[in-house]
Amino acid sequence: MDCRKTLLIPFLALAVTLGGLADAGQIKIGFLVKQPEEPWFQLEWKFADQAATEFGFEVMKIGATDGEKVLTAIDNLAASGAQGFVICTPDVLLGPAIMAKSRANNLKVIAVDDRFVGPDGKDMESVHYLGISARKIGNEVGKTLMEQVKARGWNVAEVGFMVMTFDELPTIQDRTEGAIEAAVATGFPADQVYKAPIQQRMEIPTALDAANTLLTRHPTVKKWIVAGGNDSCVLGAIRALEGRGVKVEDAIGVGINGTDCIPELEKANPTSFYGSFLLSAREHGYLTAKMMYEWIKDGKEPPLDTRTVGTLITRDTFRQILKDEGIAD
Ligand code: GLA
Repeated sequence: MDCRKTLLIPFLALAVTLGGLADAGQIKIGFLVKQPEEPWFQLEWKFADQAATEFGFEVMKIGATDGEKVLTAIDNLAASGAQGFVICTPDVLLGPAIMAKSRANNLKVIAVDDRFVGPDGKDMESVHYLGISARKIGNEVGKTLMEQVKARGWNVAEVGFMVMTFDELPTIQDRTEGAIEAAVATGFPADQVYKAPIQQRMEIPTALDAANTLLTRHPTVKKWIVAGGNDSCVLGAIRALEGRGVKVEDAIGVGINGTDCIPELEKANPTSFYGSFLLSAREHGYLTAKMMYEWIKDGKEPPLDTRTVGTLITRDTFRQILKDEGIAD
């Protein structure tokens, strides 16, 4: 072997080792979301990035819209040196597969928003989770709707309660059941509650279809109150009511998220969308990313179950509240 090569080989080995050390110094985490185009998830990413800048780690933001994308992303994360990830899964039933793949790749996992469901149909309580207090926030939606019914002096006998459901997702089922429970507890007739199940994904067009099907079945109802799993569900229903000529003042909708209804609240003229419960995208994005970072860096295990709350925003209050939350300028 010539002497140049003998010198070069140890030098290259040293360079590779140093390169490896430099990478290892930077903690990398993934942040996977099921609907990357939705404002809610974009805000989670924005706040995760804030945590990364503040603490000096890297966030790989990945739109994981189906099971295949999730599983491929987990392999890619491991290959690129990440040690953990936060995920809002596109399907809660993927939980066991996500955990198996993560264990095989030695990656830590925090589920955000949508809690994994095990093969027994129960929440996977051993997986770290941060989500909303779904039933409580649902209760607040039901109460708010009934307060508006009373404030407007409506006769409940003429009112239908349209509930945009998506029972495949437990957090959504808890929200809608919570809304029904509270409305009925404050005097709304249970037999005037009508559920509109949304097919597949909770988006405005799918909600609009579900609401139209329901409205066709109840042509004589004069006034409507509307609840749903999130803003998009309620907005779809409001568009369906408008399409059928229901007057703005004859319907009241209250959403959940508060992030996906901002253009609606900004409209020059009010629609039947009365308001929404603003959730804390900041806690869901910033806090989960920070928890993951500290878990990797210091071995500080996050709590198994963290719940966040919501605040009512309406056309009158949303600008100030969004500003206070760091969502609007
Ligand atoms: C679910 C919904 C989202 C949002 C989050 C909040 O994932 O699909 O729109 O409401 O919960 O946790």
